[in-house]
Amino acid sequence: MAAIAQAQPNIALVKYWGKRDATLNLPATGSLSITLDAPWTRTRVEFDASLRHDELRLNGAEDPAALARVSACLDLLRQRAGTARRARIDTRNHFPTAAGLASSASGFAALVVAADAALGLGLDRRTLSMLARRGSGSAARSLFGGFVGLDAGERDDGTDAIAQPLLDAAAWPLAVVIAVTSHRRKRVGSGVGMERSRRTSPFYPAWTHSAATDLAAARRAVQARDFAALAELSEHSCLKMHAVMQSSRPPLLYWNGATVDCMQRIRALREDAGEPVFFTVDAGPQVKAVCTPEAAPRVAAALAALPGVEQVLSSRLGEGARLLDDGETP
Ligand code: DP6
Repeated sequence: MAAIAQAQPNIALVKYWGKRDATLNLPATGSLSITLDAPWTRTRVEFDASLRHDELRLNGAEDPAALARVSACLDLLRQRAGTARRARIDTRNHFPTAAGLASSASGFAALVVAADAALGLGLDRRTLSMLARRGSGSAARSLFGGFVGLDAGERDDGTDAIAQPLLDAAAWPLAVVIAVTSHRRKRVGSGVGMERSRRTSPFYPAWTHSAATDLAAARRAVQARDFAALAELSEHSCLKMHAVMQSSRPPLLYWNGATVDCMQRIRALREDAGEPVFFTVDAGPQVKAVCTPEAAPRVAAALAALPGVEQVLSSRLGEGARLLDDGETP
């Protein structure tokens, strides 16, 4: 009753920020993302009748802080399998140190794929994606590769809040350059931040009302492989989300000076030098530049030259979460 799975993080171009149901973890806004090909999370799950509690190790060390969320997600799979067996979970993030990439997305995606196989459930991708969403909203998208859409849905039970693949990585092979501007842990996590924005930002209603239109336009841009349209929509969604964050009380200001300098540099690269590149920023100070593979080395060099940029990483688009062979260590 053991299996190993691998998943990669994804980066939202149309952002999810806010929940319409906290218990089922249903998003208030639909989102659109790209799945990366690196870095990866590998997770081994083994159900063992002799265990009294779930045991979680992250990069070889026990991780009690994350255990409750992981156990709650595994409970959903245990219910379906009709078992109460506890599990040993060994997960490794092959992430450059605290690069500010969403490890919860790849983490919960790998967890549900491994647990499904270990329990012999054979659930389909959509169901696995829904289960991953219960762990972390963005994780629903890492079940799929390339360009992925996640609808907010309207139903109370969340059966229409579904992620679906929009376009394969190979069909529009973009690159992502990540400028790391701080290695410190963020002070306010996404879940807490979203709830604060929902309760206190005067812009929150406008944010949720405009999300479906942004998502529909971004889907069209992806289908048409229209880089300029996707660039405009992505930067708009990013800055609109940060306007909601910054107008929350107390404010959520995830940027530092280098974050702003990177955004300005990326705009100048596009508008003055004609480089096909745009930025997006999540609940942290790192800047993700999305560009063509040809432009990636020039974008990386331009961002690395900025004061305050501590590290620059590059990735291509990748596949969704998948099972690994027994021989492949987590
Ligand atoms: C800013 O998926 O981490 O990265 O559902 O509470 O786990 P929870 O939130 P999470 O939020 C991601 C927020 C974001 C935007 C995005 O990825 O869409």
